[in-house]
Amino acid sequence: MAGNIRPETMERITTPELAKAFIDEQIAEVRAQVGDKKVLLALSGGVDSSVVAALLIKAIGKQLVCVHVNHGLLRKGEPEQVVKVFRDELGAELVYVDAVDRFLDKLAGVEDPETKRKIIGAEFIEVFAEEASKLDGIEFLGQGTIYPDILESDGVKAHHNVGGLPEDLQFELVEPVKLLYKDEVRVVGKELGLPDNMVYRQPFPGPGLGVRCVGAITRDRLEAVREADAIVREEIGKMDPVPWQYFVAIPDVKSTGIKDGKRYMGWAAVIRAINTVDAVTAQSVEIPWSMLTRIRDRIIAEVDGVNRVLWDVSDKPISTIEWE
Ligand code: XMP
Repeated sequence: MAGNIRPETMERITTPELAKAFIDEQIAEVRAQVGDKKVLLALSGGVDSSVVAALLIKAIGKQLVCVHVNHGLLRKGEPEQVVKVFRDELGAELVYVDAVDRFLDKLAGVEDPETKRKIIGAEFIEVFAEEASKLDGIEFLGQGTIYPDILESDGVKAHHNVGGLPEDLQFELVEPVKLLYKDEVRVVGKELGLPDNMVYRQPFPGPGLGVRCVGAITRDRLEAVREADAIVREEIGKMDPVPWQYFVAIPDVKSTGIKDGKRYMGWAAVIRAINTVDAVTAQSVEIPWSMLTRIRDRIIAEVDGVNRVLWDVSDKPISTIEWE
């Protein structure tokens, strides 16, 4: 396998032809590395793990075992899409783990953001390790490491993500896209036939909607975040150019609404759209008024419990991209 440094002579993968050549080369390398042994891969449905899964399926077929952990904090339709694309269409050996109750029970009542992240990270590793222990003959671990992860091992992602794999899961790594930049991973994913909404997906934090259901997570408010997020992704996704990241957060704050002449308590959904180069600084993106009001109308009509819609126009710094 190649080392951890991208050779200066390595051409930037910008075309389907270059992607195809890269895929062929990696297939040969992975086959040589793995032989007839099995590889385990945590498949979140994000760009990097999805591209690695598609590549490894091509290289070693059923010798790859994908584990998709649904922790209840994924976006609307995501777990279903992972199963549809990888198990039904690509014929992957896929273990789907419904761990929603486990995660949400552990998170109940927990307000502190970093404690929430730690719980989600630790529980994820525990679920993954449990699944791994049920499988025989695994000798390798697939990983969607990309080049910026290596370059910025003390960067934003590393700062947020907690925990590592336990000792007994220290398999030899298979990291076929570790020398690629994100844009190249997308070109390779497209060439592998993955759907556009998977390949051109916006960044999504590991703890998922957990950090957008601000404060202690409750199932009803989490559901409201998921529904409102789907609306915002659909509507803001129509902008040209599409912002780098756009989503909804619902803080644990009460908001008064009025329906049929009666006052009641609900929540306020906060829309956020930002542009950034490296996520270290970020600028709020101007959303056209007609789009904002359409989003407002849809959220109020379609999302249970939300009776107020706000637009977060803050830049980073001082405001981080996520609310917590
Ligand atoms: P912040 O909120 O720190 O976010 O300005 C910068 C970028 O990182 C993402 N983010 C995370 N990514 N695990 C991740 O993998 C996390 O815990 C996490 N928290 C924030 C955020 O979505 C943004 O793109």
